[in-house]
Amino acid sequence: MKKIFFTIAIILCLASLPNKSHAQDKDGIKVVLADSSSQFGFTLDAMTVINNKCYGCHSPNARGDKSKKALMWIELQTMDDVDLIAKLDEIVEVMEEGSMPPAKMIEKYPGMKMTDEEVEILKSWSESLLSAMMDE
Ligand code: HEC
Repeated sequence: MKKIFFTIAIILCLASLPNKSHAQDKDGIKVVLADSSSQFGFTLDAMTVINNKCYGCHSPNARGDKSKKALMWIELQTMDDVDLIAKLDEIVEVMEEGSMPPAKMIEKYPGMKMTDEEVEILKSWSESLLSAMMDE
């Protein structure tokens, strides 16, 4: 596989923190090196797609409760394996169905439509994590 698997974890930009130094991280994503024993990580490619196409709705600062309940990227890294596997499966599923971002969003903002490449990136990111976890 040509993509190097960076062990990076994502942490949320805590806009809610009363700390002004976080203010410039408006995109809401920070990259940190995770401890190397951790299985979980985001590839840079996956992070870019998530940030551009998914994070706005599936993050603590999102407006809707439904999307937050359905998936929170920053929670993946602390989930136990069973829950993480279920979430990753759902991500693969919505990629295969083409159901995310929701059609309504794409109607309004056609630029939010996933390209084939982006679908592939998120799918293979989820699938390689899944198979790594199954191998354990
Ligand atoms: C415009 C907001 C929005 C964007 C952008 C968005 N989602 Fe969602 N997502 C939702 C909502 C709302 C739900 C809850 C759906 C429901 O309950 O019907 C959801 C649910 C999900 C679920 C749970 C499965 C399901 O169908 O309920 C997954 C997985 C998911 N989204 C992945 C993604 C991924 C991956 C992206 C980026 C490619 C993305 N979402 C982008 C709003 C969004």
